Parts: sequence; C-alpha cells; structure tokens
Amino acid sequence: MKLYGKRFTSERLLELLGRLGTITAVAEHIGERRRTISHWYQDIRGGVVNEKVKADIFVSIAGDKLLNLSNRNVLFMTDTHYPYNRKGCEDFCKEIYDKEECDLVIMGGDLVDLHSTSRHMSDPDLPNSKSELEKAVECCERLFSIFPEGILTLGNHDLRIIRKATGSGISRSFLKTFEQVYKIPEEWKVVEHVMVDGIIYQHGNDLSGDNAATTWTMKNLCSTAIGHVHSVSSIKYLKSAKGMYLAISCGCLADQSALSMAYSKSYPRRFVNGVTVIKNGTHAQFFPMP
Ligand SMILES: [Fe+2]
Ligand SMILES: [Fe+2]
Repeated sequence: MKLYGKRFTSERLLELLGRLGTITAVAEHIGERRRTISHWYQDIRGGVVNEKVKADIFVSIAGDKLLNLSNRNVLFMTDTHYPYNRKGCEDFCKEIYDKEECDLVIMGGDLVDLHSTSRHMSDPDLPNSKSELEKAVECCERLFSIFPEGILTLGNHDLRIIRKATGSGISRSFLKTFEQVYKIPEEWKVVEHVMVDGIIYQHGNDLSGDNAATTWTMKNLCSTAIGHVHSVSSIKYLKSAKGMYLAISCGCLADQSALSMAYSKSYPRRFVNGVTVIKNGTHAQFFPMP
C-alpha cells in the first residue's frame, strides 16, 4: 500500500477530501502544502482532477471578476497569435511547466491573430478568413490537448470580432461565443483578468514599450503580469513603504517571420519568444524559447 508523506494512505486522503470538501481544506487540516496534496490527489486519480478539485481551483471565476488563488506555480504564456505562432511553442511550454513543477497555466491573450479581419489591409498571400479560422482552431486543439485546463485572459486580437459586431450594432445574441468558435474546453476559464497569489494577470491592451508592465502595476496598485508587448520580456521588483510589487512583461509566442507580422519588420526591436514562471507570487523567471 502506498503511503503519502509516510502517514496517509490513499483511502485516508480520499476520506478527508470527501469530509472536508476541498484540497485546500485538507491541506490546512493536516498541515501540508496545498500543492503537495494536489499532487498526491492527482497521483491517486491517475492525473485526472475531479469536480471537487476543479471547483476549488476555479470557484467564482466569471466575467471580469478578480479571484484570489494562492500558493501556485504559474506558467504564464501569451500572444500565440494562432495560426501565426512559433511552431512547437506548446511543447516548449509543457517542458517548462513540468520542469518547474507548475500547477496552473495562464494564457495572457491574443490567443488568435484574426489578421484577415483586421481594419488594416489584409495581405492577399495570407489565408482568407475561413481558412485562417480553421488553422487557428487546429492550433487551439493542440494547446488544449497539452493543457486540458487553464485560464485565458482575452487580448485585443481575440476581441476583434465582437468589437466589429457590436460596433456595427449587432447584438451578441446573434453570435457564437469565443469559447464556441475556438472549441475551448469547459476546464478553461475565459476572463478579462485574474488574480493569483496577489498578482493580476491581464493582456495589457493599450500600453506598449519597456515600461508597460510597470505602468500597469502602478495603475492597478497591485503586482501585474502582462502580455501584448511582443518585444519586451522583463521582471521588475518595485518596492514602496507598503511592500514589494512585481511588474512582469512576458514577451510572446508569435512568429515574427509570419506575413501577418510584416508590420513589425522595420522595428529595431525583435519579438522576444518565451514564457514566464511565477512562484507563490513572490518571484519569477523568464525562459526564452530557443
Ligand atoms: Fe499580441
Ligand atoms: Fe495584444
């Protein structure tokens, strides 16, 4: 019989979970870290996380509500701009996710590019709207097969269709939801922003440049991690009399050589491809994609 932490059998842990209701409550009850219990539980369940655990992780996430989650190792990936992403970026993310013992993935937005529906002229050598959508859905399927659950904070590119529609006076009632179009699994939550371990994760629309993450941190009066700024990866620690704040800019996973990114060819700064891992909300590390 396998013992967890030299004290607990799988039966005892399941009995505690049934009685106390959540992984967090079990962890507090027996004085272990939540992540340790979560790993034990996934081991017992063969990696399948059941409804109770999902409820524990995702309770109350809806719309643009902030949610406080704690003690996470977060893999923050962003700006894939499907289907114009760096090929193999999902495998790269999974490698870092496993190596750094992450337990939550947050996708920072611009999941899809929607170049064909841009208000700027679309390149005639690129796929048309239908073909681009089909390719993007294929990319999403690959991402969701590697990461069956996570959180997506919507970016400006993701919102292009809904903005076009509402700008034309078309009610949302006539449209498919973002989740329906891109076949997003129920285990993925689509939000405007989310708070984990005291850090707000958001796409970061409207600001650019080296100081965008710092500016968002100051606007939010809270540690903040953003995507959106493709050519900047930075982790800054800002300290005031009230405490330490993290300001994180995560680069992107888009392919700058794609025709859809032609607008950036003359930029002196190149896209920085990689992901950031944030541990317990206190420290972060960027992993560049080779
Ligand atoms: Fe982007
Ligand atoms: Fe963006």
